[in-house]
Amino acid sequence: MSERAVVTAGTGGIGLETAKGLARHGFAVTVVGRNADRGTSAVEEISAVATGAAPRFLAADLASLDQVRALAAHLAVEGPLKVLVNNIGAMFTQRRQTVDGIESSFAVNHLSPY
Ligand SMILES: NC(=O)c1ccc[n+]([C@@H]2O[C@H](COP(=O)([O-])OP(=O)(O)OC[C@H]3O[C@@H](n4cnc5c(N)ncnc54)[C@H](OP(=O)(O)O)[C@@H]3O)[C@@H](O)[C@H]2O)c1
Repeated sequence: MSERAVVTAGTGGIGLETAKGLARHGFAVTVVGRNADRGTSAVEEISAVATGAAPRFLAADLASLDQVRALAAHLAVEGPLKVLVNNIGAMFTQRRQTVDGIESSFAVNHLSPY
């Protein structure tokens, strides 16, 4: 059975390349992002190089602490992870707040991975 790996913000950019690398090494990779279409195309790309279990996409907006907690609960009931890549990160040039009323960069970069 493949060991499990999760890559947040894994449907594009550095996260997608990381997910593909893990899948090439036989990990069952879960990528997390907000957009389902990006998720679907990421899973197709990852599947093309995977040597272990099929990859999957889970939707979550990691700027929302409710969605972070729901994602964590979903993953936790499935058992331990071998690899967690906390790749999510953002830098907002204008001050803005999340749905929880927290400054967005702090929420996404620090609270969400924690
Ligand atoms: N690229 C660089 O030169 C560079 C340099 C230093 C550090 N970094 C850091 O490396 C990490 C990845 O960078 P990158 O350039 O690969 O970024 P990127 O291309 O902008 O990453 C996009 C990924 O982030 C997801 N994402 C964005 N906001 C999200 C949210 N609120 N919740 C869930 N997923 C979200 C996107 O999916 P959806 O749009 O579907 O949500 C997509 O999977 C970031 O932490 C970045 O700060 C990058």
